[in-house]
Amino acid sequence: MTGRLQDKSALITGSARGIGRAFAEAYVREGATVAIADIDLARAEQTAQEIGDKAYAVKLDVTDQASIDAAMRSVEARAGGLDILVNNAALFDLAPIVEISRQSYDRLFSINVAGTLFMLQAAAKSMIAAGRGGKIINMASQAGRRGEGLVAVYCATKAAVISLTQSAGLDLIKHGINVNAIAPGVVDGEHWDGVDALFAKHEGLALGEKKKMVGQSVPFGRMGQAQDLTGMAIFLATPEADYIVAQTYNVDGGNWMS
Ligand SMILES: NC(=O)c1ccc[n+]([C@@H]2O[C@H](COP(=O)([O-])OP(=O)(O)OC[C@H]3O[C@@H](n4cnc5c(N)ncnc54)[C@H](O)[C@@H]3O)[C@@H](O)[C@H]2O)c1
Repeated sequence: MTGRLQDKSALITGSARGIGRAFAEAYVREGATVAIADIDLARAEQTAQEIGDKAYAVKLDVTDQASIDAAMRSVEARAGGLDILVNNAALFDLAPIVEISRQSYDRLFSINVAGTLFMLQAAAKSMIAAGRGGKIINMASQAGRRGEGLVAVYCATKAAVISLTQSAGLDLIKHGINVNAIAPGVVDGEHWDGVDALFAKHEGLALGEKKKMVGQSVPFGRMGQAQDLTGMAIFLATPEADYIVAQTYNVDGGNWMS
Protein backbone atom coordinates (compact mmCIF):
# COMPACT_ATOMS: atom_id res chain seq x y z
CA MET A 1 0.00 0.00 0.00
CA THR A 2 1.26 3.52 -0.69
CA GLY A 3 -0.14 7.03 -0.36
CA ARG A 4 -1.34 6.65 3.22
CA LEU A 5 0.55 9.84 4.16
CA GLN A 6 -0.01 11.71 0.91
CA ASP A 7 1.00 15.40 1.15
CA LYS A 8 1.65 15.19 4.90
CA SER A 9 4.59 17.08 6.38
CA ALA A 10 6.71 15.09 8.84
CA LEU A 11 9.74 15.81 10.96
CA ILE A 12 11.75 12.90 12.33
CA THR A 13 14.42 13.71 14.90
CA GLY A 14 17.66 11.72 14.69
CA SER A 15 16.79 10.41 11.23
CA ALA A 16 20.21 10.71 9.59
CA ARG A 17 20.66 7.00 10.30
CA GLY A 18 19.12 3.91 11.90
CA ILE A 19 15.45 3.58 12.78
CA GLY A 20 14.69 7.25 12.06
CA ARG A 21 16.10 6.91 8.56
CA ALA A 22 13.97 3.81 7.91
CA PHE A 23 10.90 5.75 9.07
CA ALA A 24 11.81 8.64 6.75
CA GLU A 25 12.11 6.26 3.78
CA ALA A 26 8.77 4.66 4.64
CA TYR A 27 6.99 8.00 5.09
CA VAL A 28 8.31 9.26 1.75
CA ARG A 29 7.11 6.03 0.07
CA GLU A 30 3.67 6.81 1.58
CA GLY A 31 3.66 10.27 0.02
CA ALA A 32 4.90 12.48 2.88
CA THR A 33 7.53 15.20 2.79
CA VAL A 34 10.06 14.51 5.56
CA ALA A 35 12.52 16.71 7.42
CA ILE A 36 15.63 14.67 8.25
CA ALA A 37 16.39 16.56 11.47
CA ASP A 38 19.65 15.57 13.12
CA ILE A 39 22.58 16.96 15.06
CA ASP A 40 24.82 15.41 12.38
CA LEU A 41 23.91 17.78 9.53
CA ALA A 42 26.39 16.33 7.01
CA ARG A 43 24.92 12.86 7.43
CA ALA A 44 21.35 14.23 7.40
CA GLU A 45 22.11 15.92 4.07
CA GLN A 46 23.56 12.72 2.66
CA THR A 47 20.54 10.72 3.86
CA ALA A 48 18.06 13.25 2.43
CA GLN A 49 19.84 13.18 -0.90
CA GLU A 50 19.74 9.37 -0.98
CA ILE A 51 16.02 9.30 -0.12
CA GLY A 52 15.12 11.82 -2.83
CA ASP A 53 13.26 15.07 -3.44
CA LYS A 54 10.65 14.62 -0.71
CA ALA A 55 13.29 14.47 2.03
CA TYR A 56 15.30 17.49 3.18
CA ALA A 57 17.91 17.95 5.88
CA VAL A 58 17.42 20.21 8.88
CA LYS A 59 20.05 20.90 11.52
CA LEU A 60 18.61 20.05 14.95
CA ASP A 61 20.01 19.65 18.44
CA VAL A 62 17.10 18.55 20.61
CA THR A 63 18.92 19.76 23.74
CA ASP A 64 18.91 23.36 22.48
CA GLN A 65 15.63 25.33 22.50
CA ALA A 66 16.85 27.83 19.87
CA SER A 67 17.71 24.91 17.60
CA ILE A 68 14.28 23.32 18.14
CA ASP A 69 12.52 26.62 17.35
CA ALA A 70 14.67 27.19 14.25
CA ALA A 71 13.97 23.66 12.99
CA MET A 72 10.22 24.17 13.44
CA ARG A 73 10.33 27.50 11.57
CA SER A 74 12.24 25.92 8.69
CA VAL A 75 9.73 23.06 8.42
CA GLU A 76 6.83 25.54 8.43
CA ALA A 77 8.55 27.58 5.69
CA ARG A 78 9.50 24.58 3.60
CA ALA A 79 6.39 22.37 3.98
CA GLY A 80 3.66 24.81 5.06
CA GLY A 81 3.34 23.33 8.56
CA LEU A 82 3.83 20.08 10.44
CA ASP A 83 1.43 17.12 10.50
CA ILE A 84 3.63 14.39 12.00
CA LEU A 85 6.49 14.53 14.52
CA VAL A 86 8.54 11.44 15.38
CA ASN A 87 10.63 11.99 18.50
CA ASN A 88 13.34 9.49 17.68
CA ALA A 89 16.72 11.03 18.64
CA ALA A 90 18.24 9.41 21.71
CA LEU A 91 21.50 8.39 23.29
CA PHE A 92 22.45 5.17 25.10
CA ASP A 93 24.95 4.58 27.88
CA LEU A 94 25.70 1.79 30.27
CA ALA A 95 27.44 1.52 33.65
CA PRO A 96 27.04 -0.24 36.99
CA ILE A 97 25.15 1.92 39.51
CA VAL A 98 28.32 2.79 41.46
CA GLU A 99 30.03 4.06 38.30
CA ILE A 100 27.27 6.22 36.76
CA SER A 101 28.58 9.73 36.16
CA ARG A 102 26.62 12.97 36.50
CA GLN A 103 27.75 13.85 33.00
CA SER A 104 26.25 10.69 31.49
CA TYR A 105 23.03 11.15 33.49
CA ASP A 106 22.65 14.80 32.43
CA ARG A 107 23.39 14.05 28.77
CA LEU A 108 20.91 11.16 28.51
CA PHE A 109 18.11 13.00 30.29
CA SER A 110 18.77 16.11 28.26
CA ILE A 111 18.46 14.30 24.90
CA ASN A 112 16.05 11.46 25.65
CA VAL A 113 13.63 13.21 28.02
CA ALA A 114 13.95 17.01 27.77
CA GLY A 115 14.60 16.67 24.03
CA THR A 116 11.42 14.63 23.62
CA LEU A 117 9.32 16.98 25.77
CA PHE A 118 10.43 20.28 24.26
CA MET A 119 10.37 19.01 20.69
CA LEU A 120 6.86 17.70 21.34
CA GLN A 121 5.90 21.06 22.85
CA ALA A 122 7.19 23.02 19.85
CA ALA A 123 5.39 20.68 17.44
CA ALA A 124 2.17 20.89 19.46
CA LYS A 125 2.25 24.72 19.45
CA SER A 126 2.67 24.74 15.68
CA MET A 127 -0.08 22.14 15.18
CA ILE A 128 -2.49 24.00 17.51
CA ALA A 129 -1.83 27.29 15.70
CA ALA A 130 -2.51 25.61 12.35
CA GLY A 131 -5.73 24.10 13.76
CA ARG A 132 -5.59 20.86 11.80
CA GLY A 133 -4.48 18.42 14.51
CA GLY A 134 -1.52 16.12 14.09
CA LYS A 135 0.30 12.98 15.11
CA ILE A 136 3.21 12.75 17.53
CA ILE A 137 5.07 9.47 17.91
CA ASN A 138 7.69 9.06 20.62
CA MET A 139 10.35 6.37 20.55
CA ALA A 140 10.31 4.56 23.88
CA SER A 141 11.95 1.14 24.39
CA GLN A 142 11.52 -2.18 26.13
CA ALA A 143 14.12 -0.59 28.42
CA GLY A 144 11.36 1.72 29.63
CA ARG A 145 9.22 -1.23 30.72
CA ARG A 146 11.62 -2.50 33.39
CA GLY A 147 15.08 -1.76 34.81
CA GLU A 148 18.28 -3.49 33.75
CA GLY A 149 21.28 -3.89 36.04
CA LEU A 150 23.76 -2.02 33.89
CA VAL A 151 21.35 0.28 32.11
CA ALA A 152 19.74 2.31 34.90
CA VAL A 153 19.87 5.76 33.32
CA TYR A 154 18.77 4.80 29.79
CA CYS A 155 15.94 2.67 31.24
CA ALA A 156 14.81 5.60 33.40
CA THR A 157 14.80 7.95 30.40
CA LYS A 158 12.65 5.55 28.40
CA ALA A 159 10.23 5.04 31.32
CA ALA A 160 9.98 8.85 31.35
CA VAL A 161 9.19 8.84 27.62
CA ILE A 162 6.31 6.40 28.24
CA SER A 163 5.02 8.65 31.03
CA LEU A 164 5.35 11.82 28.93
CA THR A 165 3.47 10.06 26.13
CA GLN A 166 0.59 9.41 28.54
CA SER A 167 0.43 12.97 29.91
CA ALA A 168 0.90 14.70 26.55
CA GLY A 169 -1.52 12.28 24.92
CA LEU A 170 -4.22 13.18 27.45
CA ASP A 171 -3.56 16.92 27.26
CA LEU A 172 -3.31 17.30 23.49
CA ILE A 173 -6.12 15.07 22.21
CA LYS A 174 -8.56 17.98 22.68
CA HIS A 175 -6.63 19.70 19.87
CA GLY A 176 -6.90 16.65 17.63
CA ILE A 177 -3.27 15.77 18.29
CA ASN A 178 -2.61 12.08 18.95
CA VAL A 179 0.47 11.33 21.04
CA ASN A 180 1.55 7.69 21.13
CA ALA A 181 4.81 5.77 21.41
CA ILE A 182 6.59 2.73 20.03
CA ALA A 183 8.68 0.52 22.30
CA PRO A 184 11.16 -1.47 20.21
CA GLY A 185 13.12 -4.39 21.62
CA VAL A 186 16.60 -4.93 20.16
CA VAL A 187 17.11 -3.46 16.70
CA ASP A 188 20.32 -4.17 14.80
CA GLY A 189 22.29 -1.26 13.37
CA GLU A 190 24.97 1.25 14.32
CA HIS A 191 23.25 1.98 17.64
CA TRP A 192 23.49 -1.66 18.68
CA ASP A 193 27.09 -1.89 17.46
CA GLY A 194 27.83 0.69 20.16
CA VAL A 195 25.68 -1.09 22.75
CA ASP A 196 27.43 -4.39 21.97
CA ALA A 197 30.86 -2.78 22.45
CA LEU A 198 29.80 -1.34 25.82
CA PHE A 199 28.51 -4.73 27.02
CA ALA A 200 31.72 -6.36 25.78
CA LYS A 201 33.67 -3.97 27.99
CA HIS A 202 31.50 -4.32 31.10
CA GLU A 203 30.70 -8.05 30.87
CA GLY A 204 34.00 -9.28 29.44
CA LEU A 205 32.38 -10.54 26.22
CA ALA A 206 33.85 -10.80 22.75
CA LEU A 207 32.58 -8.22 20.27
CA GLY A 208 29.35 -9.43 18.67
CA GLU A 209 28.59 -11.89 21.47
CA LYS A 210 25.95 -9.76 23.23
CA LYS A 211 24.16 -9.18 19.95
CA LYS A 212 24.07 -12.92 19.35
CA MET A 213 22.72 -13.56 22.85
CA VAL A 214 19.97 -10.95 22.69
CA GLY A 215 18.97 -12.06 19.20
CA GLN A 216 18.64 -15.68 20.28
CA SER A 217 16.47 -14.72 23.24
CA VAL A 218 13.86 -12.87 21.15
CA PRO A 219 10.75 -15.13 20.80
CA PHE A 220 10.59 -14.26 17.09
CA GLY A 221 14.08 -15.75 16.75
CA ARG A 222 16.25 -12.78 15.78
CA MET A 223 17.06 -9.14 16.50
CA GLY A 224 14.75 -6.63 14.87
CA GLN A 225 15.60 -4.62 11.78
CA ALA A 226 14.56 -0.97 11.50
CA GLN A 227 12.10 -2.03 8.77
CA ASP A 228 10.25 -4.21 11.31
CA LEU A 229 9.04 -1.01 12.97
CA THR A 230 7.90 0.98 9.97
CA GLY A 231 4.41 -0.55 9.81
CA MET A 232 3.58 0.77 13.29
CA ALA A 233 5.21 4.14 12.56
CA ILE A 234 3.05 4.56 9.45
CA PHE A 235 -0.15 3.33 11.10
CA LEU A 236 0.15 5.68 14.08
CA ALA A 237 0.56 8.60 11.65
CA THR A 238 -2.64 7.83 9.68
CA PRO A 239 -6.28 8.77 10.42
CA GLU A 240 -6.89 5.06 11.15
CA ALA A 241 -5.15 5.71 14.48
CA ASP A 242 -7.29 8.76 15.38
CA TYR A 243 -8.94 6.96 18.34
CA ILE A 244 -5.59 5.80 19.81
CA VAL A 245 -4.52 8.12 22.61
CA ALA A 246 -1.51 8.09 24.97
CA GLN A 247 -0.49 4.47 24.25
CA THR A 248 2.89 2.78 23.95
CA TYR A 249 3.06 -0.19 21.59
CA ASN A 250 5.69 -2.91 21.91
CA VAL A 251 7.18 -3.88 18.54
CA ASP A 252 9.82 -6.28 19.75
CA GLY A 253 9.34 -9.80 18.38
CA GLY A 254 7.58 -10.87 21.58
CA ASN A 255 10.15 -9.76 24.16
CA TRP A 256 7.71 -7.94 26.38
CA MET A 257 3.98 -8.18 27.07
CA SER A 258 2.06 -5.29 28.60
N1 LIG B 1 18.27 0.21 18.22
C1 LIG B 1 17.60 -0.37 19.21
O1 LIG B 1 17.81 -1.55 19.57
C2 LIG B 1 16.54 0.40 19.97
C3 LIG B 1 15.76 -0.29 20.89
C4 LIG B 1 14.78 0.39 21.60
C5 LIG B 1 14.59 1.74 21.37
N2 LIG B 1 15.36 2.39 20.46
C6 LIG B 1 15.13 3.81 20.27
O2 LIG B 1 14.84 4.08 18.90
C7 LIG B 1 15.36 5.37 18.55
C8 LIG B 1 16.30 5.28 17.37
O3 LIG B 1 17.33 4.36 17.66
P1 LIG B 1 18.51 4.02 16.63
O4 LIG B 1 18.94 2.65 16.92
O5 LIG B 1 18.10 4.37 15.25
O6 LIG B 1 19.62 5.06 17.16
P2 LIG B 1 20.88 5.68 16.43
O7 LIG B 1 21.89 5.91 17.50
O8 LIG B 1 21.30 4.84 15.26
O9 LIG B 1 20.37 7.08 15.87
C9 LIG B 1 20.18 8.19 16.70
C10 LIG B 1 20.25 9.45 15.86
O10 LIG B 1 20.01 10.56 16.74
C11 LIG B 1 20.91 11.62 16.42
N3 LIG B 1 21.09 12.48 17.59
C12 LIG B 1 21.83 12.24 18.69
N4 LIG B 1 21.79 13.29 19.51
C13 LIG B 1 20.97 14.21 18.94
C14 LIG B 1 20.54 15.51 19.33
N5 LIG B 1 20.96 16.08 20.47
N6 LIG B 1 19.70 16.18 18.50
C15 LIG B 1 19.31 15.63 17.32
N7 LIG B 1 19.71 14.41 16.90
C16 LIG B 1 20.54 13.71 17.70
C17 LIG B 1 22.18 10.89 16.00
O11 LIG B 1 23.05 11.73 15.22
C18 LIG B 1 21.62 9.70 15.20
O12 LIG B 1 21.47 10.01 13.84
C19 LIG B 1 16.01 5.91 19.83
O13 LIG B 1 15.05 6.68 20.54
C20 LIG B 1 16.33 4.66 20.61
O14 LIG B 1 16.44 4.89 22.01
C21 LIG B 1 16.33 1.75 19.75
